[in-house]
Amino acid sequence: MIDDSYKASPERYEDGMMNYRKCGNSGIKLPIVSLGFWWNFGGIDPYANSLAKVRYAFDHGITCFDLANNYGPPFGSAEETFGKIYNENFRPYRHEMIVTTKAGYNMWDGPYGIGSSRKMLMTSLDESLRRMRLDYVDIFYSHRYDPETPIEEAMQALVDIVHSGKAIYIGLSNYPIEKLEEAITYLEGEKVHPLIYQGKYNMMVRDVEHGHFDVLAKHKVGFTAFSPIAQGVLTSKYLKGVPSDSRIAKGHYLTTANIPPELIAKLEKLNEMAEGRNQTLAQMATAWLLAKQQITSVIIGPRTIEQLADSIESIRNIDFTDEEIKDIDKILL
Ligand SMILES: NC(=O)c1ccc[n+]([C@@H]2O[C@H](COP(=O)([O-])OP(=O)(O)OC[C@H]3O[C@@H](n4cnc5c(N)ncnc54)[C@H](OP(=O)(O)O)[C@@H]3O)[C@@H](O)[C@H]2O)c1
Repeated sequence: MIDDSYKASPERYEDGMMNYRKCGNSGIKLPIVSLGFWWNFGGIDPYANSLAKVRYAFDHGITCFDLANNYGPPFGSAEETFGKIYNENFRPYRHEMIVTTKAGYNMWDGPYGIGSSRKMLMTSLDESLRRMRLDYVDIFYSHRYDPETPIEEAMQALVDIVHSGKAIYIGLSNYPIEKLEEAITYLEGEKVHPLIYQGKYNMMVRDVEHGHFDVLAKHKVGFTAFSPIAQGVLTSKYLKGVPSDSRIAKGHYLTTANIPPELIAKLEKLNEMAEGRNQTLAQMATAWLLAKQQITSVIIGPRTIEQLADSIESIRNIDFTDEEIKDIDKILL
């Protein structure tokens, strides 16, 4: 049933609500905080909570919603959740939204359900559009570099997808540096400039600093960071054990091996620093990313409305002294 009771907050674009950054050399701006659907929006999650989070996000100026074919669980169900929310609440706001999806990791059985073949990318996008009840996505990502598919085949499929009108922009994610350069060069040759690269980046995982940022700056492509708080590790959540509702307790791609005692000792120190800044550790970790000009947007993955509200507040203080930056490095590196 269509719930037409939702009216977006008229204050959503007021000064101070959200900030927007230009994405590479494109004319498009993204909110510095985007909402990600990897976990916490699947078929196993309460629909009312998912709906409340999307409404809250949009009401606070978050215009970018990050999905993939296999987000859930089960695979595909996060897109179905989004589709229901969109259909019953957001149809009047489609032109104000950036909706993304991706293909490349395992999605369905058989030889065509994984990778970046033309067959996989094109059919997966069609399935995603059906689940999300959309005519087009704003950004279609190649979710990862696939060594089994020639880069020309994967990139030409992306070019043709843009030409078909099913995606407005192209994004790339999880590419090794040399392949990233090759992929961007191919796309540029076809006059479909890639809008954005999506990579894992947080205080603890900094691989993209060693080459990716240079390639992206050279080609003027934006960067969006995923897992900004390391799936919840960069919070105070695990300082006193493993809460029963946490990702580790649920075994959602995170285990106790991710929180060894040496790390907990470091998190204690970071937590003290965050308190000194009047932030939660989650906020400080998100702000640490937002302080960097290479970052177009940070994709957060809140389970609850409280976590969402907490993370959005990160944008209020993204300034760090040189001393704070050095202290964070001293604790973690
Ligand atoms: N391109 C890719 O390959 C790729 C890969 C991964 C993610 N992504 C994208 O990035 C998005 C975010 O990734 P992520 O889910 O790993 O992000 P994340 O924000 O680092 O982790 C989310 C988890 O952190 C905890 N959390 C979130 N906000 C909190 C807060 N304010 N205070 C305390 N705990 C908080 C929750 O854990 P609990 O549930 O334990 O409370 C939540 O489930 C995904 O949804 C997806 O869109 C892309």
